[in-house]
Amino acid sequence: MIVPGYRDHPTETWDPDAPVDPGEAEDFLRRCYTENPRLGPVEPRLAIIRAQIAATGTYVHTPDELTHGARMAWRNAGRCIGRLYWRSLHVLDRRRARTADEIYSLLVQHLQTAGETQIRPVISIFAPARPGQPYARVWNEQLIRYAGYRTESGEAVGDPRLREFTTAVRAFGWQGKGEAYDVLPLVIETPADGIRLYELPERAIREVPIGHPDYAWFTELGLRWHAVPAIANMRLTVGGVHYPLAPFNGWYMGTEIGARNLSDPDRYDMIPIIAARMGLDTTRESTLWRDRALVELNIAVLHSFEQAGVKMSDHHTESRRFLKHLSNEEKAGRPVPADWSWIVPPMSGGITPVFHRYYQELDLRPAFYLDEDAASLAREGMRGCPHRP
Ligand code: ARG
Repeated sequence: MIVPGYRDHPTETWDPDAPVDPGEAEDFLRRCYTENPRLGPVEPRLAIIRAQIAATGTYVHTPDELTHGARMAWRNAGRCIGRLYWRSLHVLDRRRARTADEIYSLLVQHLQTAGETQIRPVISIFAPARPGQPYARVWNEQLIRYAGYRTESGEAVGDPRLREFTTAVRAFGWQGKGEAYDVLPLVIETPADGIRLYELPERAIREVPIGHPDYAWFTELGLRWHAVPAIANMRLTVGGVHYPLAPFNGWYMGTEIGARNLSDPDRYDMIPIIAARMGLDTTRESTLWRDRALVELNIAVLHSFEQAGVKMSDHHTESRRFLKHLSNEEKAGRPVPADWSWIVPPMSGGITPVFHRYYQELDLRPAFYLDEDAASLAREGMRGCPHRP
């Protein structure tokens, strides 16, 4: 669908060898300077970047452009329910970092900045890809994820989603403890240093043990989760410039952990175990034992984060905030791209207000994209990526 004033980008295929599209650069800059009158007139700036693109195939964002571009990319993220606070995104300009060691220490700083007191939304933006040049990337899908294993007897340990990635990092010499919540090492790949593995220090990893306000036995399950969800492998694209390494985080909504990570059958699969501990009748679906266990697990997650003083929101509050975001954006005259199947929470959909309407599925830039090769590195490591030696 075409929205006046926006260029439509139905399919994003990134050619890392192509020079920056001057039309897309201009589109972004006009919008950026219109939304931020304090930046002054855009025309002189357009003349500069046109010359830069003609001479080098790309151009360099000012810190203000980078900051606003990243915030716009969040604003345009159709799968994110948490966009009300898009203006508050804290942007760390890390474009000068080159070596794997530098990048690693800045990623540690990112996690510390994000998780210090309250959780705050942070993005670290590393060097853009220059047309035709190799670029730095992180293989991990998130800065913090738990390893997944299968024991000799075939029992699942840890997060099955990360099982193949775990096998890949073990092939590089990493040794996991083989426990349920082993934080995976970062795999940082740079043109300067090749592929390097780094273990995150404890100070960068905040975790919350999960207990239940009424069921004392709940802690015996030994569940826990990390405080900061930090997506590490999506490419940020702003005004035709591509930033393949631009990890970002928000705070968790409880259902991401309680109604997916800890409950999906192909993740930690805790629903049958919790139902058994609750003494529910699991012989018939119609007792709704799954639903009852799911609710208690989600109560436990919200309760535990609150007890630990770690910011988290519930799906009712976050749904209401999203509707507020929709009305703010409508007032500003901007369309809000949104994907119903991602916006509606994975439990109690119909009792949240976001359920009862449809959304526009637009592909607006600036944006975050998950490239196929990035997805496959995060799933399976090198083996999964056909385009690599
Ligand atoms: N759903 C993902 C997870 O459970 C995180 C996605 C981003 N979430 C967020 N609240 N910013 O790890």
